[in-house]
Amino acid sequence: MTLSSDITIRTLNAVEAEARLGELADILVDAVVHGASVNFMAGFAHDEGRAFWARQLPSIAEGMTHLHVGEAEGRLIGTALLMYAHQPNAPHRADVGKMLVHSSARRRGLGRRLLSAVEAAAAAAGRTLLLLDTESGSAGDRLYRSCGWIEVGRVPDHAFRPDGRLAETTMFYKRVGAAAG
Ligand SMILES: CC(C)(COP(=O)(O)OP(=O)(O)OC[C@H]1O[C@@H](n2cnc3c(N)ncnc32)[C@H](O)[C@@H]1OP(=O)(O)O)[C@@H](O)C(=O)NCCC(=O)NCCS
Repeated sequence: MTLSSDITIRTLNAVEAEARLGELADILVDAVVHGASVNFMAGFAHDEGRAFWARQLPSIAEGMTHLHVGEAEGRLIGTALLMYAHQPNAPHRADVGKMLVHSSARRRGLGRRLLSAVEAAAAAAGRTLLLLDTESGSAGDRLYRSCGWIEVGRVPDHAFRPDGRLAETTMFYKRVGAAAG
């Protein structure tokens, strides 16, 4: 078992991310296989996972998206995206997405560490208002609440789960950096 202290959290630049599209896809496919509602349906293929991550590369190269990863023994086991809002009236805002920890590495604190790294990076960049959403009652929902995220509200029937059932989504926000406290 990999100890939390043996896991490195860092960002990947676009060149590094492109070289590791296969591992990134592994994590996304694993999440869908285990029933996570992360935009994709059952049967989600590895090639589609690679394509998803490849679509993030231009924004990562542009500096508008930061890809945080957890790595243990040279292998990626977790991801989190910090995506800056593009709108001229939202230079203080960012979205968080694809908070994923491989099923073999869960409940050892990696999700919390990735989220904390994302929040610190956002604050350092002056992005003081963070937004995300997740399936109500999911592991993500529990993680965000335990890390001080505030529920905005719930939308019934917002998205299909991989198994084809419609599920409710909860929207969250968190103030970080100068805007926190
Ligand atoms: C959500 C997810 C990233 C959490 O990662 P993780 O590394 O297991 O989380 P952590 O070990 O850091 O958990 C931190 C806290 O979150 C809460 N939590 C996390 N998973 C939980 C679960 N399955 N049930 C209840 N609480 C949970 C707990 O409070 C936990 O603290 P504790 O272990 O001391 O009780 C992981 O379960 C995952 O990848 N799920 C599938 C993808 C997904 O749904 N992502 C979120 C939406 S994009």
